[in-house]
Amino acid sequence: MEQKRTIKVLFVCLGNICRSPSADGIMKQLVREAGLEDRISIDSAGTIGVHHGNPADSRMRQHALQRGYTLDSISRPVVEADFDEFDYIIGMDYNNIADLKARAKTKEQEEKIFAMCSWCASHDHDEVPDPYYGGSAGFELVLDILEDACQNLLTDLQEKLQ
Ligand code: 4NP
Repeated sequence: MEQKRTIKVLFVCLGNICRSPSADGIMKQLVREAGLEDRISIDSAGTIGVHHGNPADSRMRQHALQRGYTLDSISRPVVEADFDEFDYIIGMDYNNIADLKARAKTKEQEEKIFAMCSWCASHDHDEVPDPYYGGSAGFELVLDILEDACQNLLTDLQEKLQ
């Protein structure tokens, strides 16, 4: 029997406790609603490992929950195997992308690295701003940008799966 292709997506930010866990939670919900859980798999990681083993930041989880998203990721750093394992490695800001590119070993690996905001349609941000040291508005902005980008990313992936 023919094996159906699965697209594997890794969202990456700095600490893997705010932005990439939110992208992970939003995208998982969209994928679930689209009935594509067996075709699109989602994970997240950080470019630094200082929060390794921790759940998402409680402020981020609270803001996400208010919109109906449960963030259940546990922070982990990006590892070398991720560059082979995943099809899309999506950084939240320019620093994340530069760090990822510096770690890619081949052209093929480098070509898997994308900017989250390249899928934004109704927000003209180039980066998902780090909310860690700011207030509530920063967490809400993260969710606004990610809802926009995840919706368009899903549309792209659905086309790839046709
Ligand atoms: P994230 O946010 O990269 O969206 O998870 C941050 C989390 C932790 C730190 C900075 C940003 N930190 O400095 O520990």
